[in-house]
Amino acid sequence: MDKEILSTLIHKTEKFSIEQTLDFLAHEYKNQVAFSTSFGQEDQVITAIIANNKYAINIFTLDTGRLFQETYDVFDKTLKNYNIDIKVYFPEAVAVEKILDNKGPNSFYHSVDNRKECCFIRKVEPLTKALYGNKIWITGLRAEQSINRSELSLFEYDEKFEIIKFNPLLKWSLKEVEEYLEINNVPQNTLHKQGFISIGCAPCTRAINAGEDIRAGRWWWESSHKECGLHQK
Ligand code: ADX
Ligand code: SF4
Repeated sequence: MDKEILSTLIHKTEKFSIEQTLDFLAHEYKNQVAFSTSFGQEDQVITAIIANNKYAINIFTLDTGRLFQETYDVFDKTLKNYNIDIKVYFPEAVAVEKILDNKGPNSFYHSVDNRKECCFIRKVEPLTKALYGNKIWITGLRAEQSINRSELSLFEYDEKFEIIKFNPLLKWSLKEVEEYLEINNVPQNTLHKQGFISIGCAPCTRAINAGEDIRAGRWWWESSHKECGLHQK
């Protein structure tokens, strides 16, 4: 069972660099290693490492249909810059039509349940499809991003999606991420320069002010729930 190979994996890659671990995973789990990118700063670091080293890792994105134009722009630049494939997963049209018909285009602002319903249809269901058949899921999660995420490990077993998750940038600071992107000339979302740190869907993300929490701009009208169901932390 996948859960049982977790400890072997942790032990085996203990002294490996990120590159060595990605290389190892790509060879050990051929065609069953998937990296999810939202084109945020962390994801762009990981994409650059995968692309520059030509690791056989499948890169995919969840296009919720409500992303910023700036996100599509960095998506486009990334494809051209690295000449790579990024598989797009889109929500089920019928499910989206149903919400729009029954609750209007802005239902997520009206209640937490509505917001979670929208995230489920536009993100969680497509993610379930994207992860199907894979053994390893690579993400750009960092410990610094939230209190919950500070409890994460480099390798985790994700009970919800029943898959081993690898978070290579877990211990990186935002400064380290920014420096990597600058030094390596990696395409970046122009919104970062306008005060957006964590970027999700356009109607659910705002810029943050100095001193605000990194994720304060996500679902800012809600007091606590800062997760959409992709990650439990
Ligand atoms: S979220 O759960 O709050 O939306 P966050 O934006 O912090 O997540 O991103 C954390 C990681 O989740 C990213 O590094 C990426 O691996 C994955 N992720 C988030 N949004 C998407 C998306 N739209 N498409 C693909 N992966 C995503
Ligand atoms: Fe819907 Fe907002 Fe969730 Fe995007 S972040 S899926 S628009 S509720």
